[in-house]
Amino acid sequence: MCGIVGYVGKRDVLPVLLGGLSKLEYRGYDSAGVAYIADGAMQIVKCKGRLANLQEKLSGTVAENTIGIGHTRWATHGEPSDVNSHPHTNMAGDLAVVHNGIIENFAKLKQWLQGKGIHFVSETDTEVVAHLVNYYYEGDLKSAVMRAVKMLEGSYALGVMNINEPHRIVAARKDSPLVIGLGQGENLIASDFPALLEYTKDVYLLDDGEVAVITEDAVEIYDAYGNRAEKEKFTIDWDVTQAEKGGWEHFMIKEIHEQPRAMYDTLMTRMRGNRIDLSEINITEELIKGIRGIHIVACGSAYHAGIMGKYVIEQVARIPVNVDVASEFRYRMPSPLLSKDDLFIVISQSGETADTIAALREAQSKGAKVIAITNVKGSTISREADATMHTQAGMEIAVATSKGYLTQVLCLYMVAAELGRMRGTLDEAQYTAYVENLKKLPALLEQVLEGKEIVQQLASKRFMDVNEFFIGRGADHALMMEGSLKLKELSYIHSETYAAGELKHGPIALIEKNTLVMALATQTALLEKLVSNIKEVKARGAFVVAMTQQSNVAALEKDADLVLTLPDIDDLFAPILAAVPYQLYGYYTAVFKGCDVDKPRNLAKSVTVE
Ligand code: G6P
Repeated sequence: MCGIVGYVGKRDVLPVLLGGLSKLEYRGYDSAGVAYIADGAMQIVKCKGRLANLQEKLSGTVAENTIGIGHTRWATHGEPSDVNSHPHTNMAGDLAVVHNGIIENFAKLKQWLQGKGIHFVSETDTEVVAHLVNYYYEGDLKSAVMRAVKMLEGSYALGVMNINEPHRIVAARKDSPLVIGLGQGENLIASDFPALLEYTKDVYLLDDGEVAVITEDAVEIYDAYGNRAEKEKFTIDWDVTQAEKGGWEHFMIKEIHEQPRAMYDTLMTRMRGNRIDLSEINITEELIKGIRGIHIVACGSAYHAGIMGKYVIEQVARIPVNVDVASEFRYRMPSPLLSKDDLFIVISQSGETADTIAALREAQSKGAKVIAITNVKGSTISREADATMHTQAGMEIAVATSKGYLTQVLCLYMVAAELGRMRGTLDEAQYTAYVENLKKLPALLEQVLEGKEIVQQLASKRFMDVNEFFIGRGADHALMMEGSLKLKELSYIHSETYAAGELKHGPIALIEKNTLVMALATQTALLEKLVSNIKEVKARGAFVVAMTQQSNVAALEKDADLVLTLPDIDDLFAPILAAVPYQLYGYYTAVFKGCDVDKPRNLAKSVTVE
């Protein structure tokens, strides 16, 4: 959601800004712009639409040995338009600001500034910041920014430049990510790592309330009181190639294919002999004995991973698990019910989702110890949680998650195994068998990927659908929540998930001749029940595509129109394999429809506002 890049150094600033912004496209945006200093003036170029439009406007322009800030905007206050695009300026146009986040008290501040004769041109909350910093400007940009941010309520990551100080950028952060890239004779700011990787892997992670002054050979960081803050250097362990398609048509399909590797790394970095080592999250036998329940809180696909976690933890470790979406949890009235004897887990691929961060803080304020499962080392969630389990998915660029989600699910399976072992609900033999099944997953996922053609063919026949249903029971239902979401977000086909037993309570009214019903049936104990549900929708004309393990195919063949086959594995682990065909189905459907697969409309990868 919104992207910021800023550069101070000798290079031509425009390719650095445009290149950096292109690496942040995945965050979601609808307009883009840059500000840079050239010919003794603040140059602002911005426009609605894709970065290519901005690139075209800037073609042929060179601006070396100067400073610049760039922005991709995901509209919140005011429609996507040239004028609402960032950077925003003061009335004289000699001060420029880019901003991520939401200034919640912008209306009050705007009124106050208007009372002083200041004229606004956009509908954005950000423009307030430009006028406010200018209002306090008395020759020192850092002091002006520090005074201005004290007036702001809400969230912000800011990059600010002033024509009178043409060799420095001032940055500030509160509840919205911002990192500072440390180069040789050049420094950068960015809202996320991919924008920096071409230049440096060494960064400072700005903390809430801090303000930074960036010049080409120095970065000074100040706390909210104006004192110099000592920062530790953080080194990004991702590679610039991860932010490239590497021959694939889309990041989405590349990342779907990276899942066997991501799963292998996520598991094997924790295997010590035949034991899963979760010492990183301090789950000790003593802690486990005292646990009454587990809360899992997350958003989007991470929430779906949490629901899978509920099924597996309850089955394997016999501990009740409550799963909540973060935006609901944080506002539970009068406050969320939490006991200090509960284990609290937040899940977030990006580690920057605003509602999940708020839920984490809420839980900590109630005395809970928070365990995070996240993909991004150095992210806010990774830093604020009491303990963190990092998925090893690698950088995920496509807005719709695949490897991020599946490695979260795997982490929860690992947590379940350890909880089960420590509580004695898994005996030694069962634990060993469980671990062996986890180890089989990467190879079996490869096998599932090899069967992609049949999924592609199915998508080629159904991409004009307007409505589809995804059903399953138990963990299959949890998996279908994600399967349905993939189709919806990638192809814009309306799809709904239902616990198969719930169909009769309403949704069956929507089944017509040829309505596609995807039925996942990996839980052998529930197979007959699911077959009954398939018969019910078939009787009403549905076209049923079932999916199950090889050894169960015969039980479904008579009733389903098509059966997609998964390799045999213990039922407990089969839903993990089933994730892949549904990701592929969403992907191919979107491709046949001509959708923007990596950047679906209206969506953002990292939702940094609530
Ligand atoms: C957005 C993304 C989803 C993601 C969700 C939660 O909606 O498009 O793919 O599942 O945010 O993101 P997080 O980074 O917290 O996992």
